[in-house]
Amino acid sequence: MSRQELNNTINQLIARGKGILAADESSGTIEKRFAEIGLESTVENRQAYRELLFTTPNLHDYISGVILFDETIKQNAQSGQSFPQLLLASGIVPGIKVDKGLVPLVGTNNESITDGLDGLAQRLMDYKKLGAQFAKWRAVFTITDEQPSSLAMTENAQILARYAAICQSLGVVPIVEPEVLMDGNHSLQRCASVSTAVLQAVFLALEAHQVILEHMILKPSMVLPGKAHQPQNDVMDVARATIDVLRKCVPAAVPSINFLSGGQSPEAASEHLNAINTLGPQPWNLSFSFARALQEPCLHAWLGKQENVALAQKALYQGAKLNSAACLGKLHVK
Ligand code: 13P
Repeated sequence: MSRQELNNTINQLIARGKGILAADESSGTIEKRFAEIGLESTVENRQAYRELLFTTPNLHDYISGVILFDETIKQNAQSGQSFPQLLLASGIVPGIKVDKGLVPLVGTNNESITDGLDGLAQRLMDYKKLGAQFAKWRAVFTITDEQPSSLAMTENAQILARYAAICQSLGVVPIVEPEVLMDGNHSLQRCASVSTAVLQAVFLALEAHQVILEHMILKPSMVLPGKAHQPQNDVMDVARATIDVLRKCVPAAVPSINFLSGGQSPEAASEHLNAINTLGPQPWNLSFSFARALQEPCLHAWLGKQENVALAQKALYQGAKLNSAACLGKLHVK
């Protein structure tokens, strides 16, 4: 492992006021996103959309890294340049989603485990040759009265830690993503206690697997009430609950926490991130690694039409700029 390599990548990724664009939708997920704008998910449409995203003028002002999907890391822009080369040339670090999605965790009541450790080292070496410098692995936890079970938490934590250790051994920075879903009618307090248990399990496993905390990024969900819970909490309640949980569970050695958006509206995700950053100072950088909250306005401006590309790129740039301000606690909410 090259520590220098890990250091260089992490320093670029955590540049102050910048965040990560998650553009690593699997085939099934991008099909769902395209369906929202009535667009068929063909190879050509996926290539055109990713090219639109990655050629957004001056995206590097606010975006330090982009997470790609297996298909995308192997695709080229119209210019003939591969997407990872194009990103590198524009000052953005290419990364890759390496998990293979969710499979049932047998022995639980419909809980899931993330697949993909088999052959991971070889896949990482291949992706590295294509330009990837960091990787992402997502574990998912659903809240019900009985769940997540301790089995789901410990098993997913072990797998996240094994993935992270393998990444670091090959000089690839791991993004560790334990997502607690917003689905359900649980309270903010219930989400806080589940998020605490999940993060404690994750950091226990990371320590057991000797993952270097200085060379990883945590990508958690914010602490939020369930979507169906009434009333919804105000922005500052969410920010305080999120910071309380993180301060209890995340060692100061972790350089950066980059939140996922998790199905929040783009406005809510930015306002929450901003509020979180007004509570500082904290031991870590607090930034974003959004997919939906960054891409929704862009996708809806594009609608699959060439004549809308500039408008869609403007929407992406504007979203990245707002979230950059939110990383500094300087978002001016209307
Ligand atoms: P969202 O921001 O849409 O939750 O996606 C983040 C992500 O990378 C999911 O794995």
